[in-house]
Amino acid sequence: MIEVGDEFMIATVDGDIVATARWSWPAAADGNGAWIVSTHPARLSRGWLRSASREHGQSSPGGAISVGAVAQAQARYDPFAEWYEQWIGDAPPLIAAHGGLLPAVSGDRVLDAACGQGRMSRYLASLGADVTGIDISAAMLGKARAAGPGNITYIHADVTRNLAWWDGRPFGGCTCELALMDIEDLAGALSTVAAVLRPGGWFVASIVHPCFPGNERGRSSWPPGPGYESEGWWTSPDHNPDGVRIRVGATHRKLSTFLNALHDAGLDAERFVEPPAPVPTYLLWRCRR
Ligand SMILES: C[S@@+](CC[C@H](N)C(=O)[O-])C[C@H]1O[C@@H](n2cnc3c(N)ncnc32)[C@H](O)[C@@H]1O
Repeated sequence: MIEVGDEFMIATVDGDIVATARWSWPAAADGNGAWIVSTHPARLSRGWLRSASREHGQSSPGGAISVGAVAQAQARYDPFAEWYEQWIGDAPPLIAAHGGLLPAVSGDRVLDAACGQGRMSRYLASLGADVTGIDISAAMLGKARAAGPGNITYIHADVTRNLAWWDGRPFGGCTCELALMDIEDLAGALSTVAAVLRPGGWFVASIVHPCFPGNERGRSSWPPGPGYESEGWWTSPDHNPDGVRIRVGATHRKLSTFLNALHDAGLDAERFVEPPAPVPTYLLWRCRR
């Protein structure tokens, strides 16, 4: 059963909450909102809904919404794929540029989670990896497929949900370049990574550094007003107008949330890198299953 309130929607089966969704208004030019879905156990309670309701003061258009529409609403990059392609092009991925984090990949099966328009996937393929890229945005995948090469497998799938897309053959490694800030359900994403890796397989990721204050150029992790403790999706008209975050928003999590989530998923930290900057802008890591 789906109950729809002003700001929140809950799905229940036999009275148990199985999913919650919060209405958010991205700063997209068209002003459309999106349902932000959570299947995270910590958020699946009416108490959480009540406290989250107090935190977020915006209202939704209400009305029933189908599960299909919820899944579609998370593909926030669809309207911006053309823009992103022009903006990022084939810029070298941070994972490639920093810290020697990436193990030898030639001949290995590598998953590029939330691959977008495929620049990380192409880099891995150029090193001789057998690459599969998955992304929730069909438009971003369209750009990836058009860029080739044809030996990369691109799949339209949500990395936080069921593994129907996976053929069951384990991956030796997984990359996730600058995308965990776009993924609401961190535990879901990491559980997928752990499930598809072979034992000893590696997970290399880059994120916007969660520990430094917001600034008007959009490189902040947390919302400048509410601050570091305020986890979850946010957007602001003060983001860099030329950047990605004013278009799709960002999900902030505390450093401890990231570290605990990796641990809980069975991904053991092996190496961390903070590329030099006046204050670090990015954080990268390599974990092992
Ligand atoms: C900032 S882009 C990064 C894309 C690419 N990794 C890169 O470095 O250019 C973030 C990507 O995460 C994808 N994404 C967000 N949520 C996702 C999900 N639940 N499952 C799969 N991909 C997702 C978006 O569609 C988008 O392509």
